[in-house]
Amino acid sequence: MKTYRLAIIPGDGIGPEVVAQGLKVLDAAGRKFAFTTRRENFDFGGARYLKKAQVLSDEEMNALRAFDAIYLGAVGHPDVKPGILERGVLLKLRFGLDQYINLRPVRLYQNVATPIKNKGPEHIDYVVVRENSGDVYTGEGEIRNQGTGQEVATQIMVYSHAQVERCLKYAFEYVMKRHADKPWKGLSEEDRKAGFIGKLTLCGKSNVLTNVFGLWDRVMNDMAQQYPKVKLDYAHVDAMCIFLIEAPERFDVIVTTNMFGDIITDLAAVTQGGMGVAPSGNINPNGVSMFEPVHGSAPQFTGKGVANPLAAILTVKLMLEHLKEEKAAQAIDAAVQSVMLKMKSMLIGQMGYSTDQIGDMVAGVLK
Ligand code: IPM
Ligand code: MG
Repeated sequence: MKTYRLAIIPGDGIGPEVVAQGLKVLDAAGRKFAFTTRRENFDFGGARYLKKAQVLSDEEMNALRAFDAIYLGAVGHPDVKPGILERGVLLKLRFGLDQYINLRPVRLYQNVATPIKNKGPEHIDYVVVRENSGDVYTGEGEIRNQGTGQEVATQIMVYSHAQVERCLKYAFEYVMKRHADKPWKGLSEEDRKAGFIGKLTLCGKSNVLTNVFGLWDRVMNDMAQQYPKVKLDYAHVDAMCIFLIEAPERFDVIVTTNMFGDIITDLAAVTQGGMGVAPSGNINPNGVSMFEPVHGSAPQFTGKGVANPLAAILTVKLMLEHLKEEKAAQAIDAAVQSVMLKMKSMLIGQMGYSTDQIGDMVAGVLK
């Protein structure tokens, strides 16, 4: 029997509650598909910071490299000044462990309400490959004349050729893998005849940020030679905000920079039914990856049993895909779908069931 070593970071707010449901489902999947996990808990986050003034040390971060994967609930605390936990814990993990891809599948399931009129599951099914190591997130920049009327603050959008190349390589490979068995249904007859099996859309701002997107564009076009089955596409990020509402069926795989990816995936999450159902993975293809729901710690709802654990449960599905437990991942997906059919809403406090009950229901289907 296969055993996976997992580092668990339940974190703050609703994090521990939803992680408990994710682990319940993970255990049910393990029993059914013959694998086990050995888990170690880590208390990184706001609560520990308030008690001990510690964020995350290099030693603690390095200890995580020994695991097969990391599962994280949410990090964020209302009593901690913005930026401390984000930079000191979450981004330190993503950057320090070189998780250079943030994978965010966007899919509207049956019986899940979307605020977009006249769109259903057949229209919303794409994946955002968000670059996760560069951009304004690196903190490069300065503050001059702080606190004076002459203050100038800069935070620079930085991308190296190497960063762009490894991200695009992942995105192209992802399109190939996603459509290895069957071509993307959004392709035109003509595209299909031309041999395309999927589409990769670069989301940028090449009309203004000419340096950065000039680089992305060149690397993408060069790399496309090696992927003749991938149809290339481009959208400016502002226009993307229109398309994701008006015509989400236009997209298969979207690749974008860190900041734009952060923004468009919140928009995308709303179209797929809200933060209660949006999973993500911070991937280092050559190291340890970390899986976390897109939502935050929602401190005002802590301990009330009203949070939707499906984002955390679908995050377990992503983690299992990453661990190559494909069958277990598919079974969790099917179980989630069947439970969604019984729920009143995906929104916090309106589900018709408690956090715990939903975890039980999903795990129950896997029996
Ligand atoms: C996300 C979050 C983080 C980000 C914050 C909490 C640092 O918004 O995971 O999307 O900006 O990446
Ligand atoms: Mg975000």
